[in-house]
Amino acid sequence: MKIAIMGAMPEEIEPLLLHVENVTKTEYAANTYYEAEYKGKELVIAYSKIGKVFAALTAATLIEKFGCDLLLFSGVAGAIDPDLEIGDLIIADGLCQHDLDITAFGHPHGYVPEGEVCIATDSYLRDVAKGVAARKGIVLKEGIIATGDQFVANAERKSWIAKIFDAHALEMEGASVAVVCNALEVPFFILRAISDSADMDAGFDFDTFLESSAKVSADFILDMVEAIEK
Ligand code: ADE
Repeated sequence: MKIAIMGAMPEEIEPLLLHVENVTKTEYAANTYYEAEYKGKELVIAYSKIGKVFAALTAATLIEKFGCDLLLFSGVAGAIDPDLEIGDLIIADGLCQHDLDITAFGHPHGYVPEGEVCIATDSYLRDVAKGVAARKGIVLKEGIIATGDQFVANAERKSWIAKIFDAHALEMEGASVAVVCNALEVPFFILRAISDSADMDAGFDFDTFLESSAKVSADFILDMVEAIEK
């Protein structure tokens, strides 16, 4: 079984690359893919670059070109849920696209015909995450993560996303990865550590906490890789 691990930014995969062995680097489609091993498991690791289109390209490549059987996403997010603090971990039970809008035709926000507003993540992988969290005494939030091609640094936009999608956190890739994995029938899982609160301080907080929060997420993902039984 081959496990894909993707992030959006170099900072989100660098902590993974520090711990893996037997690395082979492949350049493909203007991106770098690292085939590697961790505790006897075969991995393919890549960062996509920011946003839904790049993330969809990378997820599809990990599955179609590299033959990955499941996909784990590791990275950072802006908090919507006021209980989420910098460095806290959240797993998505479902993902939606907050910037997808054909409401002019009577459809709900985030919906296009033949799609779904919210795509569920794999329940086995969520259970693996809960097991790792319980063993390590880590509090893991679970909820909807909203994705869009916008860095949200605005309390009004954040409240709107919270209200329309009942979302707990937001970021810029998860739902596009969900669309790809769902269509290709590959189990997937999205983990994020909080880097900011998507408010007026978000830009500053993101720059300050990107590295430390990305590491929190990456370390957790490696524990999950070890725990995955397949
Ligand atoms: N990822 C981390 N913080 C974010 C924010 N505020 N908006 C969008 N994506 C993010």
